[in-house]
Amino acid sequence: MNHEHHQTLWKQACDILDLNDRGSYTVPTKGLYPFQWNWDSCLTALGQSHINEERAWREIQTLFDNQWPDGMVPHIVFHEHDDGYFPGPDVWSTGRPVPTSGITQPPVAGFCVNRLYERAKDTSLAIQQASTLVPQINRWHHWFYQCRDPKGTGLIALLHPWEAGRDNSVDWDDAFERVPTDGVGSYVRRDTTHANPEHRPTQGQYDRYLWLLQHFRSLDWDNSVLHDASPFQVVDPGFNALLIRSCTDLATLADAIGMTDIAEQNRQRAAKALTALDSLWSDQHGQYVCFDRVANCAIDSASIGGLIPAVASIPKHRSNAIAQRIDRISAHSRFLVASHDPEDGRFDADRYWRGPAWLIINYLLADGLAHAGETAMSKRIIASSLDLIENGGFAEYHDPISGDPCGGASFTWTAAMVMEFLS
Ligand code: GLC
Repeated sequence: MNHEHHQTLWKQACDILDLNDRGSYTVPTKGLYPFQWNWDSCLTALGQSHINEERAWREIQTLFDNQWPDGMVPHIVFHEHDDGYFPGPDVWSTGRPVPTSGITQPPVAGFCVNRLYERAKDTSLAIQQASTLVPQINRWHHWFYQCRDPKGTGLIALLHPWEAGRDNSVDWDDAFERVPTDGVGSYVRRDTTHANPEHRPTQGQYDRYLWLLQHFRSLDWDNSVLHDASPFQVVDPGFNALLIRSCTDLATLADAIGMTDIAEQNRQRAAKALTALDSLWSDQHGQYVCFDRVANCAIDSASIGGLIPAVASIPKHRSNAIAQRIDRISAHSRFLVASHDPEDGRFDADRYWRGPAWLIINYLLADGLAHAGETAMSKRIIASSLDLIENGGFAEYHDPISGDPCGGASFTWTAAMVMEFLS
């Protein structure tokens, strides 16, 4: 890419961050997502750090100001009233001072905060911010292993597909069969008024998302009982790997600022989880797969969730196998990396997490593969990501075959990732 292109993309990305900035947090995009989302904010802060470090720290601190007393960090914080989104705060009814949802999202805070710290120009600000955030992130990590891994297996289970951040992945289809829909009542979806319904989850999936929400609400969002009471308990290798990476990075950061106890706790969590993660490897698919904790079986679905473990310090031969797997996927799609195996009949190029490419995932994969020495594949992913944006704009996600933009436009974390790739 020449210098001029580079500058144009950079300027467009800055404009999107500005457009979606609400002062102390950033909305993912106007209309479709009018509140603060957990992992969106953490990844967005990476982009913001290139322009204004103070603003970047603020983004993550605002999220953690809304951490629950039990340690959970919610997936949405409803800072302002907005009718354009369903399910809103009244449906969740979690009783928090600033209303929030009642489930969580991929824990990338440890990873992002460590990165902000390492690149900080304003070091005294960084030390001050990290000193507040490190204990908070540590409490969240503790919460995961306490509430989502009650048997101490080393791996945590998700109780709702929205927690995965990959809402309608093929990974959840079988486990969703067990989630009833009776008693859900009538409701009006808002997402399909902002985005093409063909790019969004189906009605059957939405009914089940809501059934689970109502079930957890009926249990007063008590995280000491939700895990065992949920008919949906899925162990996602991608999610667990992000948690492992966040533990490792939090340990590095905690050491750097003299919080050695926290560092040690996180190193131990990461070590135990890394060993357990290997049980999710599938020789048949040449990648990791999800495990259904209720049915006690592996889930036969080769999704991007099984490639994300590249972000953690998995064995070298596994990282290499993931690079090869991405290479095989690339034979069937022009742009990297399809969120589901294009050779699987359930692949759907335009439907959200059932096929489209997502820039945030590309960023995480490129980062992990580079660390593992898989530099060629890491570079391919970055080049393809920038191609995708030049071709289809700063969309929420893209059709990996045509490159067409899908979902919401002027998307915050897409812009933040472009800045990361360019810098
Ligand atoms: C969708 C995505 C999720 C993201 C949210 C806001 O729900 O699946 O990962 O955090 O939108 O962008």
